[in-house]
Amino acid sequence: MAPQRILVVGAGYVGLTTAACFARLGHWVICADVDEAKVAAMSHGEVGLHENGLPALVRDGLRVGRLGFVHGIPADLSDVDFIFLAVPTPSGAGGEADLSAVDDVLAQIESARADCVVVIKSTVPVGTATRVGQRLGRPVVTNPEFLREGHAVEDFLHPQRVVVGSEDEEAARRVLSLYDGTGAPVVLTGSTSAELVKYASNCFLAMKLSYVNSMAELCERVGADIGAVTEGMRLDERIGSAFLTPGPGWGGSCLPKDTEALLSTSRSAELDFPLLRATIDTNARQARRMADKVKDVVGGTLAGARIGLLGLTFKAGTDDLRDSPAMAVAEVLAAEGAHLTAYDPCVPPGSGPVHTVATPTLAARDADAIVVLTEWPEFAELDWAELAGEVSRPVVVDTRDVVPAEKARSAGFRLVAIGRP
Ligand code: UGA
Repeated sequence: MAPQRILVVGAGYVGLTTAACFARLGHWVICADVDEAKVAAMSHGEVGLHENGLPALVRDGLRVGRLGFVHGIPADLSDVDFIFLAVPTPSGAGGEADLSAVDDVLAQIESARADCVVVIKSTVPVGTATRVGQRLGRPVVTNPEFLREGHAVEDFLHPQRVVVGSEDEEAARRVLSLYDGTGAPVVLTGSTSAELVKYASNCFLAMKLSYVNSMAELCERVGADIGAVTEGMRLDERIGSAFLTPGPGWGGSCLPKDTEALLSTSRSAELDFPLLRATIDTNARQARRMADKVKDVVGGTLAGARIGLLGLTFKAGTDDLRDSPAMAVAEVLAAEGAHLTAYDPCVPPGSGPVHTVATPTLAARDADAIVVLTEWPEFAELDWAELAGEVSRPVVVDTRDVVPAEKARSAGFRLVAIGRP
């Protein structure tokens, strides 16, 4: 396809990745955001997000002139072929997605050309594209993103699938051709089904994790090893090998919000969806369960205990603290009177929501227990003999299965893992 002119609205991690990657695929892209300071920084190639490969891609796009940034939506949209909506859709009070940012954008794009295709990239409730199409009186296409934080560029340029949904097949095919060159399998469908693909996928992943977290709990009670159990499960291709590592719970900006939103959609459709409810409820218990493990190893009370936390972000490879399970555990520990000192490679000292320090060694100093909450690869390389010289009690609770058991034990640590006897 000849290079197209694309406006991406929203310069968050989805919008910015979409903009930079479309520029890489040869299109002319402008990315608009309401945050003036962010736009100014990005125009100089300064990307405030910790996202592998994204800063370099943004700078490349700026250098060759295929990517630009603007504050607010331009008044003149006459040369725009596609408008991608990548604005936030946070959870509203009842779990349903809050679409006010989408509505704000819609009010500002009415002057776009009649053949300009409006594409919804944000995760929006089932039925939104139909409503937006009626309101705008023009083709609207749903094109959900499947970008994992930390791997967003790779996921965009080498997608496992591209899903495009619309009642206007020509518009859908035009959107599809923007991805020429990625070689991805394609699902071309109606907008409602495309909207549902996104929720169905994220909620399935959440369900898989709640299942494996419960299975880990069962392993602890019956004396089995979750590592061996999941090893056996992973070899079954029908189950698949990913998303079977137990942890302190699933979090981030997507899974918690999308599970609540799908539950709200089911409620509106008068469908009882107990599996989804149990997925959410199981996860809500995880922070308490992790805190109880810590309580146990420090002698039955957290009041006054000094705990060194390793990891605060919701997973490794990102600086994102939104809905982080690590933070949820920290909150329970703090609420019960523990004194927390945390280290995270992506949270600068003094800047975190809990007291953060510059090294794992400082986090371990005088600790009654070390608790690993994020699976940063560097935690597998720690010098446990050195940490043993810092702590007040050599105990480590590893909620992410990253600590090499032999190394920690030979340095004198008692290691408490998840789902192990
Ligand atoms: C998720 C989906 O994986 C993406 O496909 C989707 O595009 C994205 O949401 C979105 O909707 O934008 P992300 O939020 O980056 O991506 O996070 P995940 O990689 O899915 O991890 C979610 C949580 O599950 C994290 O807290 C992670 O630590 C946890 N997790 C993941 C485990 O505890 N165990 C695992 O085996 C895998």
